[in-house]
Amino acid sequence: MSRVALVTGGTRGIGAAISIALKDAGYKVAATYAGNDEKAQAFKAANGIGVYKWDVSNYEACGEGIAKIVAELGPIEVLVNNAGITRDSMFHKMTPQQWHEVIDTNLTGLFNMTHQVWSGMRDGNFGRIINISSINGQKGQAGQANYSAAKAGDLGFTKALAQEGASKSITVNAICPGYIGTEMVLAVPEKVLNERIIPQIPVGRLGKPEEIARCVVFLASDDASFITGSTITANGGQFFV
Ligand code: CAA
Repeated sequence: MSRVALVTGGTRGIGAAISIALKDAGYKVAATYAGNDEKAQAFKAANGIGVYKWDVSNYEACGEGIAKIVAELGPIEVLVNNAGITRDSMFHKMTPQQWHEVIDTNLTGLFNMTHQVWSGMRDGNFGRIINISSINGQKGQAGQANYSAAKAGDLGFTKALAQEGASKSITVNAICPGYIGTEMVLAVPEKVLNERIIPQIPVGRLGKPEEIARCVVFLASDDASFITGSTITANGGQFFV
């Protein structure tokens, strides 16, 4: 029987590529989104993947949404924590709201989601948690004190939880994408992108969402059972850990 995979932020950008790749690999996929109904419905119509709307920064909303998916598809065996936002600003101009929005979504969102599938995975003696962190959680990025802090936090979360999940055959891993050609990256001012960022990528281009999705499919597979607490970096050679 095919496994159930839940992808947060799974209707756009890297998340959409992940949802599609998991479906193509035989998973029953549910994709969440926070706001853009039009894009989500278009994604559902084009790909035949169920979409569910809630905000991952809201613990109760995560619980209700997950319960609905479990009732419709069955216990969640693969969770991809992909949903993320940016509120870029140099630190001297950053507001408490910009700080909290990013931490609440990109870091606390992982707690809110994972906490509510964890018991089911322990009971089923199988699970895959795949956290989409970022190159900027590894190296830091000017203009992203909030985002870099959250994404670095995601890596600590991954390593701690990997140790707890191991005895129940639950693996917990992270992927650190570099700059991928999505709306999030293309929102960076063109001058900054072309003059500061792309010249730092040795392969000379932005990554493709599908290049991250293939890493997710591998980490979700039975072939990856011995890999836990690890980080796959996929950044075109921009930064080595
Ligand atoms: N390093 C050091 N200093 C920098 C800098 C950098 N990378 N970028 C800008 N600065 C400096 C500028 O030189 C300037 O200095 P002075 O005031 O002394 O002249 C100062 O910071 C202000 O620069 P800006 O005029 O650009 O300021 P701004 O307020 O208009 O914009 C910003 C600031 C919004 C942070 C903008 O620079 C920006 O968007 N930078 C890109 C940040 C980035 O890489 N975001 C990644 C988004 S994609 C993503 O997050 C996905 C992922 O995981 C990779």
